[in-house]
Order: sequence, then C-alpha cells, then structure tokens
Amino acid sequence: MSKKILLSESEMPTRWFNLMPHLPKPLDPPLHPGTHQVITPNDMAAIFPMNLIEQEMCADPWIDIPEEVLKVLTMWRPTPLVRADRLEAYLGTPAKIFYKNESVSPAGSHKPNTAVAQAYYNKVAGVKRLVTETGAGQWGSALSFATNLFGLGCRVFMVKCSFYQKPYRKSLMRLWGGEVFPSPTEMTNAGRAMLARDPDTPGSLGCAIAEAVEEAAHSSDANYSLGSVLNHVCLHQSVIGLEAKKQLESVGLKADVVIGCAGGGSNFAGIAFPFIPEKLGGRDIKIIGVEPAACPTMTKGPFRYDFGDTAKSTPLLKMHTLGHDFVPAGIHAGGLRYHGMAPLVSAGIAQGIIQPENRHQLECFEAATLFARTEGIVPAPETSHAIRVAIDEALQCKKTKQSKVIVFNFSGHGHFDMSAYDAYFDGKLQDYEFPMEEMKKALAAVPEI
Ligand SMILES: Cc1ncc(COP(=O)(O)O)c(C=O)c1O
Repeated sequence: MSKKILLSESEMPTRWFNLMPHLPKPLDPPLHPGTHQVITPNDMAAIFPMNLIEQEMCADPWIDIPEEVLKVLTMWRPTPLVRADRLEAYLGTPAKIFYKNESVSPAGSHKPNTAVAQAYYNKVAGVKRLVTETGAGQWGSALSFATNLFGLGCRVFMVKCSFYQKPYRKSLMRLWGGEVFPSPTEMTNAGRAMLARDPDTPGSLGCAIAEAVEEAAHSSDANYSLGSVLNHVCLHQSVIGLEAKKQLESVGLKADVVIGCAGGGSNFAGIAFPFIPEKLGGRDIKIIGVEPAACPTMTKGPFRYDFGDTAKSTPLLKMHTLGHDFVPAGIHAGGLRYHGMAPLVSAGIAQGIIQPENRHQLECFEAATLFARTEGIVPAPETSHAIRVAIDEALQCKKTKQSKVIVFNFSGHGHFDMSAYDAYFDGKLQDYEFPMEEMKKALAAVPEI
C-alpha cells in the first residue's frame, strides 16, 4: 500500500454532511441570552448573515458547497490520508494507523475549511468586515487568509498571553491583511470591565469572544465570525471525514477507531461525523473525542445550557460546560482551552455515540515527539492529544493482536509552537490537576434552565 492515499480535485466532496437529522434524539434549541426563550433567526441577525443563520438551523442531511468556496478549497484540498507506517513499526503494533493531514492548508490547520465558507457567505450578504477572537492564533490566521481572498476586512481580538507568546501568528494575520489586538482591550465595554477587575489579566477566550461580539453587534458594516462550536462550523468541517471515508474505501478499508482532539469540537466533528451513520447502522466503530485533562469539558463538565462568553452576550447553548467564567490552566494547547463544547458533539456524547477521553499535556508532548521522530511532521500541541490516543489504541491492539484501522485527524502543525517544545525538552512543562472546586464555583453562575 502506498504511503499517501490521494484524491484528485474532481473527487472532492461537493456537499457538506449534516449530522443533525441523523441524531436519534433531536438537538435542544439555542435560547435567547436575555429572555431564555428559543432564539429566532432575527435575534441572530445583528452578528451573523441570514444565509449562515439558515445553515445553523438547517436539518437537511446534505448541503451543497458553493462553487466559489470549492474553488478556494482546491488551493490545498483534497488533503492526503497518510499511513503512519513508521510509527506503527516503532510501536510494533498490528494496527493500521492513518492520519488525515489538515496541516497542509495555508494557515496550517483545519480552520480555513470554515473560514473560507464564512467569508464567502458574509461577502454575498454585503458585509464589509468580520470581527473575531483567537486563542493560540490558528483561527485568527485562517480568517485573515479567507477574508483577504474575498476582499473583506478582518479584526482579531487575540487572547493577550498568546499575543505575546506567539508573535509569528500575529505576523501571519497581518501578512494576510488582518488587524490584531491583544484582548482585553480598552476598545469595548467587555474589555474595559475585565481590565478594571484585573489590569494584569492574561486574557481568556471567553473575554475575547465578548469583545468581538460587542464590536460586531454595534457596527453596521461588520459581522461576527466564530471558528468552532456552532452547527454551521461543524458542517463546513465535514469535508475532512467525507474525504477520509472515500480514501479508505479506495484501498478497501473501513475505520474501526476514529479520533479527533476537541476544543470547541469542530475538527473532531469534521473527521468523525461522516462515520456516525455507519455506527448508527450497527457497525462497531469507536468514535473518540480527546480533550486536555486540565480543561475536561466533555469528561467532567455537566450537559446543560450555558453562555459561550464571559459577558453572557451569546445565545445559551445546551452543551457540556465547565461554566462560562471558568479559566483553564495555561496549557500550551491554547486551542483546547475553552469552557464549552459544540452542541452537536455534546448531544452525540449524551446519546452514547461519541466516547470522550482526556489526557495530560506531558503525555501528549511525549506522543507528539515520537510522531515527529517517526513520521517527520511537527504536530500542534492541540493535535498531540489525538496522537496520544491513537498511540494508546494501537498499543492496545498490540496486546490483543488485533489489526484495527485507526484514523485520526492531524488538525494542525506546530511550526509556531516551538517554544512549547523547548519548554518540554527543558523540563519546564507540568501537568495540572483539574480544580473541581473552581468548576463548581463557575457553574454556580450558570442559569438554571
Ligand atoms: C491545530 C488545532 N487543532 C485543534 C483545535 C481545536 O479546535 P476545534 O475543537 O474547534 O477543532 C485548534 C483550535 O485552535 C487548533 O488550532
């Protein structure tokens, strides 16, 4: 079998896969943050274009990908499905390990799959610029890349500690025409309130979201854009799993284990959701979402309605949550430091379809280092969580002498994360125990619904 399974551009999916109508029990609707009533499309129109709001609520099983979006996606798609045979040989496992390499996109991760679609739909709706937040910088750079191609402006509120830790992510956003500000800023009420509470705060994703939503809601020419969590983002990422399924089929294989790391849930949704109908049809597939042990939203957080930001300005979503005020420890997988989880992923867990797991950062860096030394590519710290579990599954196969097909999403490269690897090699990284009491405190501020 060849190392890489490739598809031609003509074999790219032309429709997105929507999990919503496949769920055995329907998804709980989003609620208005003020009234707690079911939200209407008009309630969301201050920050999103109507074409994306329709997609957010759409229950059609398939949605056509516009020609203009496909054209941009072919700049790097279809992405390769690669056999990690050198890693298999090192582990001495009979399992077949494959990774879907989303790091080949211009921004270096899966994030442009939805950034391009969101920029396109906003452009069609006549919007002039997009405002967003970014944690580690992957999403901000993906949106800057996409808005530039569609002639839109882009403003990014970047969590302050990452802004100073990862200066080259900031440079990348500026290269593609984005404006970047360290959050909290003095530009918004949400930012000023956070600075008044703590002038030296490192910032948080919840606060950066509040700043971006506030600016978009008060600007006539701008909309807000979110890089994960929402249904339409999971939808746009489904190209990953659709391609991977086709690639496996082309060599006569079917996945037994599908793995993705989960921050807001979108790259996991992208690789995993297209395999779910097969599982619901009775095939024994393990579908695993992996999160940091220091931010265990799916494995320790309750499944209930909560806000997406600290200012309580977003709709209430039914999801696994640690509480919108919960501030996770400063692990290097900044993209996995989010208190909530996509409602579709959360529903999949509640309905017994998705298996959540968590891992500590040191064991993930160990897995990432082994991957780089066998397969050559440098994983993002977020991606290392999926690699850890893929290795653990493969080692289990070694014990049971099973040659399972294990597929994981290689969500991004770590070329801008080398200081984290240095810290790991210098013995300066630590694991963090999850502060259960802090979560309980944060959950006390979540409305009872
Ligand atoms: C490389 C990489 N992988 C995974 C994630 C997690 O995001 P999500 O769960 O939305 O895919 C991020 C988020 O920034 C990321 O940068």
